[in-house]
Amino acid sequence: MKTIEITDYLACEQALKENPLRQALYDEAEIVMDRVLVTLHGEEHRRRRLVEMRVFRRDFFRRYEQEVIPGIVDAVLKNYPKGSSADLVDLGYRCLVYLAITFAGLDRQDGSREEVDTLVKMLRLFGVSATLGQAIDRDKEAARREIRAAVAEFDRRFFTPSCERRQTLIDQAKRGEISADDLPMDVLTVCLQSQTELGLDRDGLLREVAFYFLAGAHTSVHSLGHIVHHLLEWSAGHNGARAALEADPTLVQKFVHESFRLHPSSPVAVRIALEPVNFLDSQRAEPGDKVVISLRGANRSVERFGADADQFNPYREMKPGVEETGITFGRGMHVCLGRNLAAGLLATNGGSTQQFGMLTYLAHRLLCRGIAADTARQAKLDQAISRETWAFYPVVFTR
Ligand code: HEM
Repeated sequence: MKTIEITDYLACEQALKENPLRQALYDEAEIVMDRVLVTLHGEEHRRRRLVEMRVFRRDFFRRYEQEVIPGIVDAVLKNYPKGSSADLVDLGYRCLVYLAITFAGLDRQDGSREEVDTLVKMLRLFGVSATLGQAIDRDKEAARREIRAAVAEFDRRFFTPSCERRQTLIDQAKRGEISADDLPMDVLTVCLQSQTELGLDRDGLLREVAFYFLAGAHTSVHSLGHIVHHLLEWSAGHNGARAALEADPTLVQKFVHESFRLHPSSPVAVRIALEPVNFLDSQRAEPGDKVVISLRGANRSVERFGADADQFNPYREMKPGVEETGITFGRGMHVCLGRNLAAGLLATNGGSTQQFGMLTYLAHRLLCRGIAADTARQAKLDQAISRETWAFYPVVFTR
């Protein structure tokens, strides 16, 4: 069995679309990721994806854009008055846990500060679980014990009561006591409605919801670090840029997309070949071979993005048909279901109305609150995993 590494842009796109390649990035992440959507293959994956796609309808995005995202972000930012300092990574977790539990289908139980701290702690541990395969110098057994304990607490405090409340509502809708339109618009609700058809047992349902909580928040927190870093650096180096960004969320969105291109949440996607596959870069995988698809490498292709492909340039001219975010959100059967929620949709990309997405909204709000790097403290990159992420990013609010 050999390992093939693909970096050519078109060959990476092709590899992501090849059905005879099965997901293998999370083979060491079974505690949270065993048989969840992103690790399923074939017909079982297709059936579950079709059910879960029902959550992400046009009216879902409209409600998130107009109500849910502003409501949550603005409530969290109230905790950071003028003159206060913060760790951007921690702030990101605080905003994004609330957004992620909302679409995953978990209810806040008491709304306390302790509760959000617990959710952040759980999310960080679930993140460790998902990236154990990429961990450097970590005691994996000790990490697994800690993650199992977090999953048990997640079950008791959040999953069980949220599940019971939704099951009661689904039963009421079946009896005609409430309208189906009054059911929550979230992953847990649609999975409960189709539980038998999907063959999901209780543990499977628990992991599916934990996976959405993780997929929605963890990737976005790390993206936020890169986005704000680029916004602040660009503003420091370009006269008038900061004022232009504060005045125009559409411009912020261009910066957000360029940051997504440079920093995919995972630098690689990994697959195992189930059948022989010939790739456009002339490589060939035999059954059992591991295929490492370099999202990061492809997104820095000079041929696709120009001579300055590895530089941050939100004003780069895109070639026709090339997506601003490259292949950061994947392609093919596992293409990200949360793309529009995270990154929005540019009106020029065929959307009738522009969607900003949660990261542009949050980044724009932070700029308008006068966020600046806290020069008294040193930002740190995460050394524990081979992904490129900020572990600590100190900022101050000047307004
Ligand atoms: C920073 C933002 C995000 C990035 C960069 C990102 C990236 C990705 C990528 C690359 C994949 C494909 C993985 C593979 O092919 O192996 C994926 C899948 C997925 N993402 Fe995202 N994602 C983001 C945010 C979100 C959000 C907010 C959600 C919330 C719903 C989400 C839900 C999913 C789901 C459910 C899948 C699995 C789809 C499937 O297997 O059919 N993601 N994401």
